[in-house]
Amino acid sequence: MPTTIKAQGLTRKFADNIAVNGLNLEIEEGEIFGLVGPDGAGKTTTMRLLTGILEPTSGDGWVYGKHIVQESEELKENIAYMSQRFGLYEELTVLENINFYADVFCVPKNKRQEVIEKLLGFSGLLPFKQRLAGKLSGGMKQKLGLSCALIHTPKVLFLDEPTNGVDPVSRRDFWSILYDLLKDKVTILYSTSYLDEAERCRRVGLIHKGRLLRCDTPDNIKKEINVNTLEQAFIKIVNDYESKHAK
Ligand SMILES: Nc1ncnc2c1ncn2[C@@H]1O[C@H](COP(=O)(O)OP(=O)(O)OP(=O)(O)O)[C@@H](O)[C@H]1O
Ligand SMILES: [Mg+2]
Repeated sequence: MPTTIKAQGLTRKFADNIAVNGLNLEIEEGEIFGLVGPDGAGKTTTMRLLTGILEPTSGDGWVYGKHIVQESEELKENIAYMSQRFGLYEELTVLENINFYADVFCVPKNKRQEVIEKLLGFSGLLPFKQRLAGKLSGGMKQKLGLSCALIHTPKVLFLDEPTNGVDPVSRRDFWSILYDLLKDKVTILYSTSYLDEAERCRRVGLIHKGRLLRCDTPDNIKKEINVNTLEQAFIKIVNDYESKHAK
Protein backbone atom coordinates (compact mmCIF):
# COMPACT_ATOMS: atom_id res chain seq x y z
CA MET A 1 0.00 0.00 0.00
CA PRO A 2 1.39 3.45 -0.84
CA THR A 3 2.02 5.95 1.95
CA THR A 4 -0.59 8.72 1.83
CA ILE A 5 0.37 10.81 4.85
CA LYS A 6 3.98 11.17 5.94
CA ALA A 7 5.51 13.34 8.65
CA GLN A 8 9.24 13.56 9.25
CA GLY A 9 10.49 15.33 12.36
CA LEU A 10 7.47 17.61 12.18
CA THR A 11 7.74 20.31 14.85
CA ARG A 12 5.73 23.41 15.68
CA LYS A 13 6.53 25.86 18.45
CA PHE A 14 4.35 28.69 19.76
CA ALA A 15 6.83 31.00 21.55
CA ASP A 16 8.57 28.52 23.90
CA ASN A 17 5.68 26.02 23.92
CA ILE A 18 6.38 23.03 21.65
CA ALA A 19 2.90 22.01 20.46
CA VAL A 20 4.18 19.25 18.15
CA ASN A 21 7.62 17.82 18.80
CA GLY A 22 9.51 15.78 16.19
CA LEU A 23 6.53 13.85 14.85
CA ASN A 24 7.34 10.89 12.59
CA LEU A 25 4.36 9.17 11.05
CA GLU A 26 3.40 7.15 7.98
CA ILE A 27 -0.23 6.42 7.16
CA GLU A 28 -1.16 4.12 4.30
CA GLU A 29 -3.76 4.63 1.62
CA GLY A 30 -7.19 3.43 2.74
CA GLU A 31 -6.18 3.35 6.41
CA ILE A 32 -8.08 4.98 9.24
CA PHE A 33 -5.57 6.24 11.78
CA GLY A 34 -6.67 7.48 15.20
CA LEU A 35 -4.89 10.33 16.95
CA VAL A 36 -5.58 10.19 20.66
CA GLY A 37 -4.36 12.34 23.49
CA PRO A 38 -5.42 14.60 26.35
CA ASP A 39 -6.45 18.27 25.96
CA GLY A 40 -3.61 20.36 24.60
CA ALA A 41 -1.63 17.27 23.46
CA GLY A 42 -1.09 18.63 19.96
CA LYS A 43 -3.81 16.86 17.93
CA THR A 44 -5.29 19.96 16.29
CA THR A 45 -1.86 21.45 15.63
CA THR A 46 -0.84 18.18 13.90
CA MET A 47 -3.96 18.37 11.71
CA ARG A 48 -3.34 22.02 10.86
CA LEU A 49 0.28 21.27 9.91
CA LEU A 50 -0.66 18.31 7.71
CA THR A 51 -3.42 20.24 5.94
CA GLY A 52 -1.03 23.05 5.01
CA ILE A 53 -2.87 25.62 7.14
CA LEU A 54 -0.01 26.15 9.57
CA GLU A 55 3.71 26.13 8.74
CA PRO A 56 6.02 23.91 10.77
CA THR A 57 8.92 25.39 12.73
CA SER A 58 10.99 22.48 11.37
CA GLY A 59 10.50 19.11 9.73
CA ASP A 60 8.58 17.97 6.67
CA GLY A 61 5.34 16.38 5.69
CA TRP A 62 3.62 15.07 2.56
CA VAL A 63 -0.02 14.31 1.90
CA TYR A 64 -0.95 12.40 -1.22
CA GLY A 65 2.49 13.22 -2.61
CA LYS A 66 2.29 16.97 -1.99
CA HIS A 67 4.64 18.76 0.37
CA ILE A 68 2.80 20.54 3.19
CA VAL A 69 4.69 23.83 2.72
CA GLN A 70 5.98 24.00 -0.87
CA GLU A 71 2.81 22.52 -2.36
CA SER A 72 0.22 23.52 0.20
CA GLU A 73 -2.22 24.83 -2.45
CA GLU A 74 -2.13 21.66 -4.60
CA LEU A 75 -2.36 19.59 -1.43
CA LYS A 76 -5.71 21.16 -0.57
CA GLU A 77 -7.29 19.83 -3.77
CA ASN A 78 -7.00 16.26 -2.49
CA ILE A 79 -8.04 16.72 1.09
CA ALA A 80 -10.96 17.64 3.31
CA TYR A 81 -10.56 18.98 6.80
CA MET A 82 -13.37 18.99 9.29
CA SER A 83 -12.05 21.21 12.04
CA GLN A 84 -12.98 20.94 15.69
CA ARG A 85 -15.42 23.83 15.25
CA PHE A 86 -16.57 23.16 11.71
CA GLY A 87 -18.42 26.14 10.24
CA LEU A 88 -22.00 25.50 9.25
CA TYR A 89 -24.26 28.43 8.48
CA GLU A 90 -27.00 28.03 11.05
CA GLU A 91 -29.39 30.37 9.26
CA LEU A 92 -29.11 28.38 5.99
CA THR A 93 -30.91 25.09 5.33
CA VAL A 94 -29.17 21.73 5.03
CA LEU A 95 -29.34 21.94 1.24
CA GLU A 96 -28.14 25.56 1.14
CA ASN A 97 -25.16 24.68 3.33
CA ILE A 98 -24.10 21.80 1.14
CA ASN A 99 -24.58 23.89 -2.02
CA PHE A 100 -22.44 26.61 -0.48
CA TYR A 101 -19.55 24.17 0.02
CA ALA A 102 -20.09 22.83 -3.51
CA ASP A 103 -19.58 26.42 -4.75
CA VAL A 104 -16.48 26.91 -2.62
CA PHE A 105 -14.95 23.70 -4.01
CA CYS A 106 -16.10 24.45 -7.57
CA VAL A 107 -18.05 21.19 -7.94
CA PRO A 108 -19.48 21.34 -11.49
CA LYS A 109 -23.22 22.10 -11.49
CA ASN A 110 -24.06 19.07 -13.65
CA LYS A 111 -22.40 16.62 -11.20
CA ARG A 112 -23.64 18.31 -8.07
CA GLN A 113 -27.13 16.88 -7.81
CA GLU A 114 -25.92 13.29 -7.83
CA VAL A 115 -23.18 13.85 -5.22
CA ILE A 116 -25.50 15.81 -2.92
CA GLU A 117 -28.23 13.15 -3.07
CA LYS A 118 -25.65 10.45 -2.29
CA LEU A 119 -24.12 12.33 0.66
CA LEU A 120 -27.44 13.34 2.17
CA GLY A 121 -28.67 9.78 1.57
CA PHE A 122 -25.92 8.06 3.48
CA SER A 123 -25.92 10.59 6.27
CA GLY A 124 -29.71 10.14 6.64
CA LEU A 125 -30.35 13.85 6.07
CA LEU A 126 -32.53 13.63 2.95
CA PRO A 127 -35.78 14.14 4.91
CA PHE A 128 -34.26 17.25 6.51
CA LYS A 129 -33.06 18.99 3.33
CA GLN A 130 -35.11 22.10 4.01
CA ARG A 131 -34.41 22.33 7.74
CA LEU A 132 -32.26 25.21 9.02
CA ALA A 133 -28.86 23.90 10.10
CA GLY A 134 -29.30 25.75 13.39
CA LYS A 135 -32.33 23.56 14.16
CA LEU A 136 -30.55 20.22 13.69
CA SER A 137 -29.51 18.01 16.61
CA GLY A 138 -25.79 17.88 17.51
CA GLY A 139 -25.29 14.54 15.76
CA MET A 140 -27.10 15.70 12.62
CA LYS A 141 -24.99 18.84 12.51
CA GLN A 142 -21.83 16.74 12.56
CA LYS A 143 -23.16 14.50 9.78
CA LEU A 144 -23.99 17.59 7.74
CA GLY A 145 -20.48 18.91 8.43
CA LEU A 146 -19.03 15.63 7.16
CA SER A 147 -21.26 15.75 4.07
CA CYS A 148 -20.06 19.31 3.33
CA ALA A 149 -16.44 18.22 3.81
CA LEU A 150 -16.95 15.34 1.36
CA ILE A 151 -18.58 17.38 -1.40
CA HIS A 152 -15.45 17.39 -3.63
CA THR A 153 -14.77 13.63 -3.10
CA PRO A 154 -11.43 14.08 -1.33
CA LYS A 155 -8.75 11.37 -1.23
CA VAL A 156 -7.67 12.18 2.32
CA LEU A 157 -9.91 13.18 5.18
CA PHE A 158 -8.81 14.97 8.36
CA LEU A 159 -11.43 14.80 11.10
CA ASP A 160 -10.69 16.63 14.34
CA GLU A 161 -12.86 15.23 17.17
CA PRO A 162 -15.90 15.10 14.85
CA THR A 163 -18.15 13.23 17.27
CA ASN A 164 -17.38 15.23 20.39
CA GLY A 165 -20.61 15.52 22.39
CA VAL A 166 -22.57 13.39 19.89
CA ASP A 167 -24.88 10.64 21.21
CA PRO A 168 -23.87 6.96 20.75
CA VAL A 169 -26.46 6.23 18.03
CA SER A 170 -25.36 9.16 15.87
CA ARG A 171 -21.73 8.21 16.49
CA ARG A 172 -22.48 4.73 15.14
CA ASP A 173 -24.11 6.25 12.02
CA PHE A 174 -21.09 8.50 11.59
CA TRP A 175 -18.77 5.49 11.71
CA SER A 176 -20.77 3.56 9.15
CA ILE A 177 -20.27 6.51 6.77
CA LEU A 178 -16.52 6.34 7.46
CA TYR A 179 -16.37 2.58 6.76
CA ASP A 180 -18.03 3.21 3.38
CA LEU A 181 -15.36 5.80 2.58
CA LEU A 182 -12.58 3.34 3.48
CA LYS A 183 -13.97 0.91 0.90
CA ASP A 184 -13.27 3.61 -1.70
CA LYS A 185 -9.64 3.84 -0.44
CA VAL A 186 -10.09 7.21 1.24
CA THR A 187 -7.40 7.70 3.92
CA ILE A 188 -8.60 9.12 7.24
CA LEU A 189 -6.75 10.81 10.08
CA TYR A 190 -9.19 10.89 12.97
CA SER A 191 -8.63 12.58 16.30
CA THR A 192 -10.79 11.58 19.21
CA SER A 193 -10.94 11.49 22.95
CA TYR A 194 -13.29 8.47 22.87
CA LEU A 195 -11.30 5.29 23.30
CA ASP A 196 -14.08 3.09 21.88
CA GLU A 197 -13.58 5.06 18.65
CA ALA A 198 -9.82 4.63 18.89
CA GLU A 199 -10.42 0.85 19.08
CA ARG A 200 -12.16 1.03 15.70
CA CYS A 201 -9.13 2.56 13.99
CA ARG A 202 -6.66 0.31 12.22
CA ARG A 203 -3.78 1.97 14.05
CA VAL A 204 -3.65 4.52 16.82
CA GLY A 205 -1.11 7.19 17.73
CA LEU A 206 -0.99 8.34 21.34
CA ILE A 207 0.17 11.94 21.51
CA HIS A 208 1.08 13.69 24.76
CA LYS A 209 2.77 17.06 25.17
CA GLY A 210 3.44 17.16 21.43
CA ARG A 211 5.20 13.78 21.37
CA LEU A 212 3.97 10.61 19.74
CA LEU A 213 4.43 8.15 22.61
CA ARG A 214 3.03 5.05 20.84
CA CYS A 215 1.89 4.18 17.36
CA ASP A 216 0.50 0.71 16.64
CA THR A 217 -2.69 -1.31 16.29
CA PRO A 218 -4.99 -1.17 19.34
CA ASP A 219 -4.34 -4.90 19.98
CA ASN A 220 -0.57 -4.56 19.86
CA ILE A 221 -0.62 -1.60 22.26
CA LYS A 222 -2.76 -3.50 24.78
CA LYS A 223 -0.55 -6.60 24.47
CA GLU A 224 2.65 -4.62 24.91
CA ILE A 225 1.39 -2.89 28.07
CA ASN A 226 -0.33 -6.10 29.20
CA VAL A 227 -3.76 -4.61 29.93
CA ASN A 228 -7.30 -5.26 28.68
CA THR A 229 -8.34 -1.82 27.50
CA LEU A 230 -6.78 1.00 25.51
CA GLU A 231 -7.74 3.35 28.33
CA GLN A 232 -5.60 1.42 30.82
CA ALA A 233 -2.77 1.26 28.29
CA PHE A 234 -2.83 4.98 27.63
CA ILE A 235 -2.98 5.93 31.31
CA LYS A 236 0.04 3.72 31.98
CA ILE A 237 2.02 5.05 29.01
CA VAL A 238 1.34 8.69 29.97
CA ASN A 239 2.15 8.05 33.66
CA ASP A 240 5.41 6.28 32.75
CA TYR A 241 6.35 9.21 30.52
CA GLU A 242 5.57 11.68 33.31
CA SER A 243 7.59 9.85 35.95
CA LYS A 244 10.55 9.55 33.57
CA HIS A 245 10.47 13.27 32.79
CA ALA A 246 9.61 14.54 36.28
CA LYS A 247 13.25 15.10 37.26
N1 LIG B 1 -2.29 29.46 17.78
C1 LIG B 1 -1.71 29.13 18.93
N2 LIG B 1 -0.98 30.00 19.65
C2 LIG B 1 -0.37 29.64 20.80
N3 LIG B 1 -0.43 28.40 21.32
C3 LIG B 1 -1.15 27.48 20.66
C4 LIG B 1 -1.83 27.79 19.44
N4 LIG B 1 -2.46 26.66 18.99
C5 LIG B 1 -2.19 25.70 19.90
N5 LIG B 1 -1.41 26.19 20.91
C6 LIG B 1 -0.90 25.42 22.05
O1 LIG B 1 -0.32 24.22 21.55
C7 LIG B 1 -0.61 23.10 22.39
C8 LIG B 1 -1.33 22.05 21.57
O2 LIG B 1 -2.64 22.52 21.26
P1 LIG B 1 -3.64 21.71 20.32
O3 LIG B 1 -4.79 22.60 20.07
O4 LIG B 1 -2.90 21.18 19.15
O5 LIG B 1 -4.05 20.49 21.27
P2 LIG B 1 -5.22 19.41 21.12
O6 LIG B 1 -4.59 18.07 21.35
O7 LIG B 1 -5.94 19.61 19.86
O8 LIG B 1 -6.17 19.75 22.37
P3 LIG B 1 -7.79 19.63 22.52
O9 LIG B 1 -8.05 18.18 22.86
O10 LIG B 1 -8.07 20.52 23.69
O11 LIG B 1 -8.42 20.08 21.25
C9 LIG B 1 -1.42 23.66 23.55
O12 LIG B 1 -0.53 23.93 24.61
C10 LIG B 1 -2.01 24.95 22.99
O13 LIG B 1 -2.24 25.89 24.00
MG1 LIG C 1 -7.88 20.05 19.39
